[in-house]
Amino acid sequence: MAKINHDLRNLLASAQLLSDQLASVPDPRVQRFAPKLVRSLERAIAFCQSTLSYGRAQEAAPDRRMVLIEPVVMEVRETAGLASDASIAWVAAIERGLAVDADPDQLFRVLLNLVRNAAQALESHAAGEGGAQQIRITGKREGAVAILEISDTGPGVPKKTRERLFEAFQTSGRPGGSGLGLAIAAELVRAHGGDIHLVEGTIGATFRIVIPDRPVELLSIRNERQRA
Ligand SMILES: Nc1ncnc2c1ncn2[C@@H]1O[C@H](COP(=O)(O)OP(=O)(O)OP(=O)(O)O)[C@@H](O)[C@H]1O
Ligand SMILES: [Mg+2]
Repeated sequence: MAKINHDLRNLLASAQLLSDQLASVPDPRVQRFAPKLVRSLERAIAFCQSTLSYGRAQEAAPDRRMVLIEPVVMEVRETAGLASDASIAWVAAIERGLAVDADPDQLFRVLLNLVRNAAQALESHAAGEGGAQQIRITGKREGAVAILEISDTGPGVPKKTRERLFEAFQTSGRPGGSGLGLAIAAELVRAHGGDIHLVEGTIGATFRIVIPDRPVELLSIRNERQRA
């Protein structure tokens, strides 16, 4: 699949070059449809790009360490373009000093996918609905597991999307969406021995991620004790 995809992307890229040239033809009819053509080709290429990276061999195994979550969340906010977005309120309620035993880059990608979805849900909901537009991230620790929640005050996940939410290519058909974000997030969380799910019965949508610490290697501790 990756190979077909790859070649398809190359073909689309050359079609894009041609359509870019078309855009400079002065004929008004050409002027009307050329930008649309360019845009839909751009979308097709972006779609190939993301399926390509999904179809590629598996993700690397997580390289885990204790990651302070607060700076990661701040970076996610900036990357999603939400640090300067006055129309969406951002609430982070994270236990002071909370650390998650995770691969920092993979954790970042998981959170970015969820925050992007939340922002897109709020945008589709649009203003004028009265209530405040908000994205909220909470984080806490319960014993050996870290629990993170990402919520938004959007319309919630459509019923028919819920059943296979974390499978690849499930999308509501939002333009530009390839339906891979949650599949990738789930794959990364599970590689940590963790779990991701949609919390039922909330306003908007709430995703909960649970990531357990790596098990302590009792055997090596026992050996160390004996040696001591
Ligand atoms: N916070 C949310 N609120 C409402 N619907 C959501 C939310 N998050 C996900 N969804 C629904 O789940 C679908 C799948 O999400 P997913 O992130 O996997 O794909 P996508 O956002 O459509 O595309 P991609 O992430 O690949 O750009 C979305 O199309 C949307 O219908
Ligand atoms: Mg997405």
